[in-house]
Amino acid sequence: MSITIKSPSGREIKFSTGLFINNEFRPSKSNNVLTTPNPATGEDLATVSAATAEDVDDAVQAARRAFVTTWGKKSTPSQRSAALHKWADLIQENIDTLAELESLDNGKPVWMARDIDIVDSIDCLRYYAGLADKIEGRTIEQEEGRKIAFTRPEPIGVCGQIIPWNYPIQMFAWKVGAALAAGNTIIMKPAEQTPLSALVLAELSIKAGFPPGVINIVNGLGSVAGRAISSHMDIDKIAFTGSTITGRSIMESAAKSNLKKVTLELGGKSPVVVFENADIDQAVNWVSQGILFNHGQDCCAGSRLFLQESIKEEFLSKLKKNFESHVIGDPFDIKTYQGPQVSKQQQEKILSYIKSGIEQGATLLTGGEARIAHLSSKFKNGFYTPPTIFTDCKPGMKIVDEEIFGPVLTVQTFETEEEAIEKANNTPYGLGAGVFSQNASQCMRMVHALCAGTVWCNQYVALSNAVPFGGMKQSGFGRELGIEGLKEYTQTKSVHWNYGEKADWPVDGTSN
Ligand code: NAI
Ligand code: MG
Repeated sequence: MSITIKSPSGREIKFSTGLFINNEFRPSKSNNVLTTPNPATGEDLATVSAATAEDVDDAVQAARRAFVTTWGKKSTPSQRSAALHKWADLIQENIDTLAELESLDNGKPVWMARDIDIVDSIDCLRYYAGLADKIEGRTIEQEEGRKIAFTRPEPIGVCGQIIPWNYPIQMFAWKVGAALAAGNTIIMKPAEQTPLSALVLAELSIKAGFPPGVINIVNGLGSVAGRAISSHMDIDKIAFTGSTITGRSIMESAAKSNLKKVTLELGGKSPVVVFENADIDQAVNWVSQGILFNHGQDCCAGSRLFLQESIKEEFLSKLKKNFESHVIGDPFDIKTYQGPQVSKQQQEKILSYIKSGIEQGATLLTGGEARIAHLSSKFKNGFYTPPTIFTDCKPGMKIVDEEIFGPVLTVQTFETEEEAIEKANNTPYGLGAGVFSQNASQCMRMVHALCAGTVWCNQYVALSNAVPFGGMKQSGFGRELGIEGLKEYTQTKSVHWNYGEKADWPVDGTSN
């Protein structure tokens, strides 16, 4: 039930591969497994247990027991806070192991996994550890001397959490931090492409002191374990991050089962608008990072760039140079900015979008297969894709309308602010949006006009654990991070209290 992976740095990474239920690792009752590849080489990396509906049901029973006996109804906020802090400490102690494992499983550079994803995840757990004892209700005056009412924010119960593969540790931390701080117990399902780091986090959670059943982690296929979670009759809430199509199906399962609460963080096709008065060099850097960071596998990737006509030539020549300067290759090399995409399927999807862009008449400014042709033989079968810019784009092209989830930027131009707003908002999504302008009034007008859950001004894709994050329109609903993220894991109980000496209602049916 455990495996040792030798990483390219020579480190031996040992961890359990079973389902994590009730603080124990065990195989699936049907002995189901799934194998995850190393995206940099295309070779198999590890095989782990994969849950069936029966296994999910075991996890739910453990979580329900823990909710009733040790965590939701019995723990104090300071106990929950202490366990979260301890978990954060243990992750910090194991940061290099986790970063290498994450890189091997996901393909992102080790430095990125370590210094961005995991550092932020530790911070997230600590943020929610700090909020655990700050969950407060209100008193609402009713009648002086006789009646009072108050509210109690209570945990929701057993929560299913289904996460994607683009930020496996970070999505894990965002979801568990808020849920556990508020007193919920969880069934977490990592993505089948990246099942490994969650298993190490599970082991550390025992050492952090979480009682059995509070945290359950079931790897498995979306179509099996994911479905079992979203249709389970004893799961009270489901939090999902992933594609819009899967989000719809989860909502449907929730509706058809026990009407569990649902929060969805779905995809995007986020616009970035650059006005002629922007600091061009700064904007070039942010625009590049906005689409190339994490290989474009980011729900708020700035994939539609809108340039004011007058700066088009200068901006694009600088942006092209920037794109071509990024090092693509070995995720274990500190100089690498872009590793492989997470899977062969994602690589093929991105390459087919690039092909469709060319076929539908967009102009390829940089990118294409030649950009990755230099890769050394070790990485020849890796799932690499070229950082790509298309100009002369317009709505109706697949590359403009659909989420690609890769390092592919589409460029359109505009003359006026009104035109920029209309074009930027021309999408069914509403997750992120960026504005570059040195005119503060113009930035504020854009903040007001853009339909997105987050608007960045003169920066892009920067997040903070204290600031809520989530979508408008078809990018989903509900918020993660911040106090809003915690509130999504509580439900309000209202209490009406009559403490007067005499009943004020004719209980015997006569009038008073
Ligand atoms: P997906 O949405 O199918 O997978 C995300 C998670 O949902 C995984 O854990 C998966 O096992 C689970 N899942 C899949 N089907 C399920 C079902 N019927 N019931 C319950 N859970 C289910 O995304 P996928 O197929 O990995 O990627 C496809 C596209 O989705 C990407 O190309 C990208 O456009 C988008 N995506 C968006 C993400 C975001 O952060 N918004 C993250 C991952 C993918
Ligand atoms: Mg993998």
